[in-house]
Amino acid sequence: MALIKEIKLSTESYKIFINENIESFFKKNKIGQKYAIITDDKVKKLYAIKLKNELQKNKIEAEIFSFKNGEKQKTINTLETLANQMVEKGFDRKDAIIALGGGVVGDLAGFLASTYMRGIPYIQVPTTLLAMVDSSIGGKTGVDISSGKNLLGTFHQPQAVLINTNYLQTLSQQQIKNGVGEIIKYGVISSKQLFEYLEKNMQNILDLKEENINYIIKKSVIIKAEIVEQDEKESNIRMILNYGHTYGHAIEKISNYKLLHGYAVAIGMVIANKIAVEEKILKQTDSERIKNLIKLAGLPTTTLHKPKLKDLLSDKKKEGNFISFILPTKIGEAVIKKTQCQ
Ligand SMILES: NC(=O)c1ccc[n+]([C@@H]2O[C@H](COP(=O)([O-])OP(=O)(O)OC[C@H]3O[C@@H](n4cnc5c(N)ncnc54)[C@H](O)[C@@H]3O)[C@@H](O)[C@H]2O)c1
Ligand SMILES: [Zn+2]
Repeated sequence: MALIKEIKLSTESYKIFINENIESFFKKNKIGQKYAIITDDKVKKLYAIKLKNELQKNKIEAEIFSFKNGEKQKTINTLETLANQMVEKGFDRKDAIIALGGGVVGDLAGFLASTYMRGIPYIQVPTTLLAMVDSSIGGKTGVDISSGKNLLGTFHQPQAVLINTNYLQTLSQQQIKNGVGEIIKYGVISSKQLFEYLEKNMQNILDLKEENINYIIKKSVIIKAEIVEQDEKESNIRMILNYGHTYGHAIEKISNYKLLHGYAVAIGMVIANKIAVEEKILKQTDSERIKNLIKLAGLPTTTLHKPKLKDLLSDKKKEGNFISFILPTKIGEAVIKKTQCQ
């Protein structure tokens, strides 16, 4: 068992563990009377059934509620279906949710937890690299609506985050790279040390070498957690985590969500760097270095369908006609810059 970090917020705090034995965690920590394991169909087959059996062996009551995998299911409809199923099975305010899956499951299950019977506790058990380093931490929950991604949601912090790197063994290389995109982001905005580690160890990371994977997950989790501690509700510094995302979100949308999030963010980072170089706040050599790392990870750096400035205005981070761009100033540091779009 290893504690990576305890996130301390103004009204609550919770711990993030890596490679903790999940069953023994639930034996030691009674978060609910019984647990609704929310997952998707893929993760259900791979891990949820096993988890439920392990919990039951330890006399911990659990029930699985699953939906078809994929971003398309991150909707109010799925939320309602799951809530109805939970009511049918007698889940009430004394119970808790286990979000077992990638970011889609985490966001949806977190939103369900924050609204089910006016709110019940939940635990994040991320199974994708992206979810381990990003979406499981920080308490942002939500679903997509026809006007855009994540437009309905809440801040609802989990009781704990349990990262188990064994889950990565069944993940595709494409999904691993998807997570690496976000990890490169952390290096650029906040840690030269992480950035250089990625430069030196990228192949080992993509090959899931234990030592390297553990290092980058721990480092990323700490970076994200420390930013969330400073600005839980994203009124200021937390915006820095949106480096590469202003263009990234628009690129994802234009691709009709065929391009994975981390891939779109990779292109978004290259575009942000170009702006930063034009604004004379980032050296061309640093911009090239970031681009080379993105290439080394097998992630894209260009798109045939570059969004126009007006496409960015549907981003939920806009304020009127102003958009905040996160621009790096050197490797390991970035600033927030408001730009008017007309
Ligand atoms: N809340 C936040 O702060 C935050 C941050 C970043 C991203 N997100 C959200 O996260 C979502 C993307 O997350 P994602 O990339 O994890 O996508 P995902 O949840 O759709 O998972 C990707 C695919 O991998 C499969 N999968 C999951 N774990 C697996 C495993 N261990 N082995 C094999 N297959 C597995 C899933 O079934 C799915 O098909 C988006 O909806 C995004 O908006 C949220
Ligand atoms: Zn992201």
